[in-house]
Amino acid sequence: MSRIYLDYNATTPLAPKVIAALEPFLRDGFGNPSSLHWAGIPARDAVEQARCQVAALLRCDATELVFTSGGTEANNYALKGAFFSQSLRKDRPHFIITQIEHPAVTEPCRFLECLGAEVTHIRVDGCGRVDPDDVRRAIRPGTVLVSVMHANNEVGTIQPIETLARIAREHEVLMHTDAAQTVGKILVDVESLGVDLLTIAGHKLYAPKGVGALYVREGVELEPLLHGAAHEAGRRGGTENVLEIVGLGAACDLAKQWVDDPGLARLRDHFWQSLKKRFGERVVLNGHPEHRLPNTLNVSFRGLVGSEILARMPEVAASTGSACHAGSIEMSPVLKAMGVSEAVGLGAVRFSLGRESTIAEVECVIEHLSNCLDQVQASK
Ligand SMILES: Cc1ncc(COP(=O)(O)O)c(C=O)c1O
Repeated sequence: MSRIYLDYNATTPLAPKVIAALEPFLRDGFGNPSSLHWAGIPARDAVEQARCQVAALLRCDATELVFTSGGTEANNYALKGAFFSQSLRKDRPHFIITQIEHPAVTEPCRFLECLGAEVTHIRVDGCGRVDPDDVRRAIRPGTVLVSVMHANNEVGTIQPIETLARIAREHEVLMHTDAAQTVGKILVDVESLGVDLLTIAGHKLYAPKGVGALYVREGVELEPLLHGAAHEAGRRGGTENVLEIVGLGAACDLAKQWVDDPGLARLRDHFWQSLKKRFGERVVLNGHPEHRLPNTLNVSFRGLVGSEILARMPEVAASTGSACHAGSIEMSPVLKAMGVSEAVGLGAVRFSLGRESTIAEVECVIEHLSNCLDQVQASK
C-alpha cells in the first residue's frame, strides 16, 4: 500500500507554486535586501511584495507585519515584547493565557514568570472552548496581555477571538492570538477579529519551515526580541530570510483562493461519518462539533492507545498528543484540560487533512483502522 499523509497540522509540503516562486532566490536573487545596488534592490522588492501578499490575506497594512523565523518566534516576540515594553510601567505585569496553548506560548510565559510576571491559565470546557466571562473576570489592573490561540493544533477547536478581543479592548489590555493553525485554513481577518497581535507559521500553509510573521497593530509598542541593525523597520535585527519570505508570500497568495473552499470540511465530515458507521460507540470525537478547523478530526478509540494504533499502520502519517514518559503513556495535556477521561484520552489519534487529501485515502485509512482494531481485539 502506498503511504498516506494525514498530518497537515504538523506541517505541510511546499506548494508547487511556492517552489516556483522561491527558486530564483536560490540562484541569482542572492542580494542583501538592505543593499542599494543592482543585487540588493530586487531582493528588497521581493521582500516587500511578500509582505503585501501576507497583508492581503490577513487584510492588514503591510507595515503592520514583522517577518520572523516561524510561529515560535512570533509568539515569543508578542509575549516578551509586551512584557519588556510594559514592565517599567506595571509593577507585576500580568498575562492571561489558556490551559491549552501551544508550548510556544506556555514556555515564554513560564520564562516571564521567572522575571516577575504573573500568568493566569484560563480553563476550557469539554469541547476545548474558553468562556469569555472567565477571561473578563481574570483581567485586573496589572494585566498587560491576553493570549488565546485562534484554533487548537490537536483538536482544532476555534476560540471566540472576536469576543475576547472586545473584552481586552474594553479593559485597555493587548490581545494576541496564535493563528499558526488557522491562517490558510479559514478566513483570518485581523480587523474583524479585533486583535492587536497575531502569529503566523509558514510551514502550516505550504510555505517553508523556519519562516513566519507577527502582525502588530499600528501603534502597539513592542520591544524587539532580536536587537541588531534596523531591519524590519527596527523591529527585528538580522538580514531578512529573503528565500523563505518569498515562499511565505506566495503561500499566502495561494491561500486566498483556498480559504472559502468547503471541500476540506466535507471530506473531514465524510471521514467522521464513516468512522461512526464502522466503529459505532467505540469511537469518540474530541473537540468542538462545529467551531472546529475544517481539516481536523481528532478521534479516540475507547480503551485503546493512540500511539499503538498508529504503530500498527506505519504507512499512515497521523499523530497523537499522548506522550511516553518513563515507560508509561500519558494522555495529551490538551485533552486532560478538556476533562476527557484517561480511557478515552489515551486512545486519541489526530488526523489532519490537506489540499492533496482524497476520499480514496480516507477510505483506505478506515480499512487500516478496521484491521488494526481487529488485531488489537484478537491480541487481548
Ligand atoms: C498552534 C501553534 N503555535 C505555534 C507553533 C510553532 O510554530 P513553528 O513551528 O513555526 O515555530 C505551532 C507548530 O506546531 C502550532 O501548532
